[in-house]
Amino acid sequence: MNGMRELLDDTVRRAARFLDSLAERPVAASCGAGELVPALGGALPETGQPASAILSLLDEAGERGAVASAGPRYFGFVTGGVLPASLAANWLAAAWDQNAFSEVSSPVGAAIERVAVRWILEALDLPADAGIAFVTGATMANFTALAADRRAVLLAHGHDVDRDGLHAAPEITVVVGEQAHATLFKALGMLGLGRDRVVRVPVDGQGRMRADALPGLDGPAIVCTQAGNVNTGAFDPVGAICEAVRAYDVRVHVDGAFGLWARASTEFADLARGIGQADSWAADAHKWLNVPYDSGLAIVRDAGALRGAMSVQADYLPDRENREPFEFTPETSRRMRGVEVWAALASLGRGGLVELVERNCRQARRFAAGLRDAGFEVLNDVVLNQVLVAFGDDRATAETIRAVQREGTCWCGGTRWNGRAAMRISVSSWATTDDDVERSLAAIVRVAETVRRTA
Ligand SMILES: Cc1ncc(COP(=O)(O)O)c(C=O)c1O
Repeated sequence: MNGMRELLDDTVRRAARFLDSLAERPVAASCGAGELVPALGGALPETGQPASAILSLLDEAGERGAVASAGPRYFGFVTGGVLPASLAANWLAAAWDQNAFSEVSSPVGAAIERVAVRWILEALDLPADAGIAFVTGATMANFTALAADRRAVLLAHGHDVDRDGLHAAPEITVVVGEQAHATLFKALGMLGLGRDRVVRVPVDGQGRMRADALPGLDGPAIVCTQAGNVNTGAFDPVGAICEAVRAYDVRVHVDGAFGLWARASTEFADLARGIGQADSWAADAHKWLNVPYDSGLAIVRDAGALRGAMSVQADYLPDRENREPFEFTPETSRRMRGVEVWAALASLGRGGLVELVERNCRQARRFAAGLRDAGFEVLNDVVLNQVLVAFGDDRATAETIRAVQREGTCWCGGTRWNGRAAMRISVSSWATTDDDVERSLAAIVRVAETVRRTA
């Protein structure tokens, strides 16, 4: 193909230069979107431009607006980096441009998913015959898994929601913890279950749902638990919750966007106790598995319920002999999203996944200890990879967060916890070394002390 080889070689050079810069470049982007828009385009061009010119514009103008979140000292939100094997697999699969909806349209897409499904269930110690949908993130994973749960609880009451929708359906009681993630409510809204029509269960000081405060349940119900509070990292007591609702007609779902990966390590067996008893689970691969965006996993014990909720029929679609990807996801045509998950698990192996999770959690504990030693207040029990720290009153904490972001050694965001402003440190990247943690800790303490002195 004319010029394709040169274009891809140029892409490799530019990408490698960016990746090489990650170790030392300031973590925050050097300019905002407003500054980039004019550089990236005015009116729609009347005639097309050469691909090589478009690539250099993207690189030279756009790169200034790229956050170094693939690098080793980005601790914002819950953000994994990208493992080399997953990045390479992503590039090759993009060149293949497979429509991975079906075995007919992409045998390799179907095969990759079959292997990845098996590996995920093994790594997370979940039932070997569970169904998995490769979706775009935890929001869609919650949506997809809860669609299967909604179908199952209503079918048990004689109502086929796929055929009749929620018209004349028995009411489903949806139970959530007070600290459920904001996007779970969005998923419930999209499912017609309502963002606000939920029973909220009180939580303890770490954001864990209190199993002793669960309501009595009558009729179809779904209990949405959480493995990994986005602020504290705390897990709901999923085992105790499953026991408490066993007598009722209930499905238990686990939003384990990042926390579900802790099941790979026996170190977190107590934290994750009982998670295997649930009916469905959501996890992000683009968080702790360190694959490129966008990648989430909806896992459902009853694979038939997932297939029932997501499958479609049409005369032109293939007969189903084996697992067909389009029977599990909200999307039909889609990219080969399982490929980066497959590559990540192949490159880490079980041992590498365990090491990654355990290392990041040890690094989070090191941040907490260093910040406490420097006289700052750690607001959470550091049970996983999340640390919340206050640098005095809310104003001092907000000013410190801004100053840390400006200083550029590392990047951490802010939040509020139990009525107080806090800085969130989320350690989620394969690229983060112990040296990166020491460098970042020293920078945070230095900046915070300057803010304290000048207040
Ligand atoms: C517990 C939890 N659930 C859901 C989400 C949403 O994930 P995503 O942004 O991948 O859709 C997050 C994101 O941080 C989360 O922490």
